[in-house]
Amino acid sequence: MRLSRRAHPSPWRRAITTILVTGGAGFIGSEFVRYTLANHADYDVVVLDKLTYAGNLDNLRPVSESPRYRFVQGDIGEATTVEPLVDGADAIVNFAAETHVDRSLLDPGSFINTDVYGVHVLLEAVRRTGGKARFLQVSTDEVYGSIEQGSFQESDRLQPRSPYSASKAGGELMAQAYFETYRLHVVSTRGSNTFGPYQYPEKIIPLFVTNALDNLPLPLYGDGLNVRDWLYVGDHCSAIDLVLHEGRAGEAYNVGGGNERTNLYVTETILQLLGKPRSLIKPVADRPGHDRRYSLDCAKVRRLGWQPQRDFLAALRETVDWYAANEWWWRQLKSGEYLDYYKQNYGQRDTAAAESARP
Ligand code: NAD
Ligand code: TYD
Repeated sequence: MRLSRRAHPSPWRRAITTILVTGGAGFIGSEFVRYTLANHADYDVVVLDKLTYAGNLDNLRPVSESPRYRFVQGDIGEATTVEPLVDGADAIVNFAAETHVDRSLLDPGSFINTDVYGVHVLLEAVRRTGGKARFLQVSTDEVYGSIEQGSFQESDRLQPRSPYSASKAGGELMAQAYFETYRLHVVSTRGSNTFGPYQYPEKIIPLFVTNALDNLPLPLYGDGLNVRDWLYVGDHCSAIDLVLHEGRAGEAYNVGGGNERTNLYVTETILQLLGKPRSLIKPVADRPGHDRRYSLDCAKVRRLGWQPQRDFLAALRETVDWYAANEWWWRQLKSGEYLDYYKQNYGQRDTAAAESARP
């Protein structure tokens, strides 16, 4: 997608003193809050989060005593909640989303509510308060769809293939429409698969690490050869921070870790790091519409001066160690609603069919 470049009205570059971080109690959002408070000594951070199953105030415990941090529980889809917070902010970074592809296959409606409509409500609040604040939409590499060879550039067509990625594309396109139509200062980042501490144990890395710690099966979809480009959460946040401050309005920026690995490789590495047997791998029926490979060309964000700092294996080892040392954090999450979801998603998979795809 090529976006037009026009002069920015002056309010767009106004200095930041208060950042509104929506979805800041989730995995990446909470890291961004910690990152911002540590790296911008003069910024205040307000978190707005609905505290869905994925939102967790334990993620924000390290900053809970900071006088520069404030938490508000609420929904980005509720204009009356959102508007006063947007009015008091110089920048909004929107992490709030339903984020899990498998859940989007079971219940697409909640994804449209938050990832499309919620983004619209936030943008409308920026517009109604005079367009003073800059707005960063945290998007995903999944908006491009799957690619067999080569890498996606920002100008490539968006071809999302799951209800999750279609909703994220909808939200991002809405944000770009507000740049074109209302001249709001909007940028977006398209990050790749992210990993690190505090990730809800439904995504592959925290799920497989915590299952392996309990000697439970690791349900590997299909032939295990789908490829994801892994990005450490701290590197993802430094890119978002840079694009927020230096990105050009109306533009999208790819943010990839440059670590393309098959799911089988990631699974085997986790088992090796934990000293667990390969027999814990359980091939299960593939995810419907499973994207084969994601790959990003990140030259554009690199031109802004960003590059990932963390080596994949070292960061994975550190992440595995964090889950091993912080059972208090994840064990309480693997109960109640989580177990219902687990049964719904994994219980129905045709393991007999999957046996034929054993890696
Ligand atoms: P997460 O699921 O851990 O956290 C999402 C947060 O949003 C939770 O705290 C949740 O309570 C909150 N939330 C959900 N609906 C809300 C609503 N209606 N109003 C207010 N808050 C709401 O997600 P994450 O992995 O931290 O992802 C954050 C963002 O980054 C998402 O927009 C996601 O699409 C994007 N992203 C994630 C990855 C990844 O690999 N995790 C990669 C690229 C982009
Ligand atoms: P996931 O962590 O759900 O992220 P995304 O679907 O957004 O890329 O999945 C990463 C990869 O791991 C994806 O190819 C699907 C695969 N996967 C499994 O094989 N088994 C699982 O139980 C999960 C959750 C994912």
